Amino acid sequence: MTSFLSRRRFLTNGAALLTAGYCRLPWPNITPARLPIPPLVDGSNGEPVNLQIRTGEWSFMPGILTPTLGINQNYLGPTIKTRQNSELNLHYENTLSEGVAIHGHGLHVPGAVDGGPQLEIAPGNRWQPSLSIVQPAATCWYHSHTHNKTGHQVYHGLAGMMIVADDDTDAMELPRRYGIDDLPVIIQDRTFDTQGHLLYSPDEAGQDGWFGETVVINGAIAPVAEVPAGKVRLRLLNGANARFYIVAFADNRTFYKIAGDGGMLAAPVPLTSMEMAPGERCEIIVDLSDGHTAWLLTLFEDDVDDDGEGIISSLQGWSGESKAVTPSLTLKVNSTLAAHTAPLPDKLATIIRPASNEIIRTRDFFLEMEGGNGDSHGGNHAAMDMTINGAVMNMNVINERVKSGVWERWRIRSNLGAHPFHVHGCSFLIEQMEGAAALLDQQGWKDIVVLDDDDWSEIVVRFEHPASERYPYMYHCHILEHEDRGMMGQFTVS
Ligand code: C2O
Ligand code: CU
Ligand code: CU
Repeated sequence: MTSFLSRRRFLTNGAALLTAGYCRLPWPNITPARLPIPPLVDGSNGEPVNLQIRTGEWSFMPGILTPTLGINQNYLGPTIKTRQNSELNLHYENTLSEGVAIHGHGLHVPGAVDGGPQLEIAPGNRWQPSLSIVQPAATCWYHSHTHNKTGHQVYHGLAGMMIVADDDTDAMELPRRYGIDDLPVIIQDRTFDTQGHLLYSPDEAGQDGWFGETVVINGAIAPVAEVPAGKVRLRLLNGANARFYIVAFADNRTFYKIAGDGGMLAAPVPLTSMEMAPGERCEIIVDLSDGHTAWLLTLFEDDVDDDGEGIISSLQGWSGESKAVTPSLTLKVNSTLAAHTAPLPDKLATIIRPASNEIIRTRDFFLEMEGGNGDSHGGNHAAMDMTINGAVMNMNVINERVKSGVWERWRIRSNLGAHPFHVHGCSFLIEQMEGAAALLDQQGWKDIVVLDDDDWSEIVVRFEHPASERYPYMYHCHILEHEDRGMMGQFTVS
């Protein structure tokens, strides 16, 4: 198969991805949708946040209602706000006719309230976990984690954003007006059948999981957001089942990454493109004070060649073919809105890595895909075994037992393909990604690390909260079709 590796290395070395004019702009002749902004529910005062898991109908395309799932709404859920040193009381009610587990991805909370597959809410039942939020500010999310059904339920809409705030970050000069200059941007891809229903057929997926053909942002196709003529913060979440995106702007403008999965980076990192794996979050600042419209692109890896030359030429070819490069999100300046124009802080956080003598043990994780058609890109997903250290996920087996409060080194690699490896209950630091030092913008707190079949990725991790045998934490590949097929394990922390 074509390896993701060389692409990733190339792209993140800061090469020019695009020059203006290579993509077909703007989105042709239909009136574009406005960017849907999920309602913000502030749970930081400890008041219960009611979350009803329900069926719905959502209009992705004008005039067509698509059957969906959602939380308090037809598709996706509200953005839940919480704060460091507060209690978050979630009151879930499952009105579906199937069980649902909902996990708080990125939260540092004990296994008993983490929402893994052991905590499935039966049809008609409620689940009311109380979460002590101790971690610093971060963009997290919540999503279905139902045993063997995560891919299906997330694809149909069971996901939402979670924003953890804290005093330090609130004291910084950063845009923070939700829905105005601080926008949730949930990136997903969906395929629709001839009736406009969501098509999800993981058994027919290739070995890399289920890819949708059309990018949707907060459930809208190529929407437009009106923003002030100043700095705008985008909280990007790759909420796709399987797709890696390359994020850039059509005019190749520089943007600043300020936060990754687990919170603020040490300092803003200027970038013109970056890759986002499934499950990852990036907060970026884009400056629109010139008044010009900015088009956000979420390119597909398969459409970008391995070598530097190939990227621009493939896009040139691309726009002439059936797949024109369509911006996923248009940011249009409305100069009547009050703008955030203060310079970015040059320091955001202090990130302290453990000294090597503090790391008390090493664990290895080997992700394997076997069988099917072997090692071609067309390998049949349904026929493959997906394992970690030789085992498929078994709810009755605890795969690892970890001690709380101590640093460990976890080394992860695969026999085939790129996988976003995620660990519950913590944020970790990347020591090495695919055999090389972590890139500058990956040197903050993370809960997903990408690994490939050529080299080890290494993280250092420490758990501060308990996870029992009954309610263990999970580690898994965040390609949801891989997770559902067993590329996942359970571990306790005590
Ligand atoms: Cu976002 Cu265990 O997952
Ligand atoms: Cu998680
Ligand atoms: Cu995987």
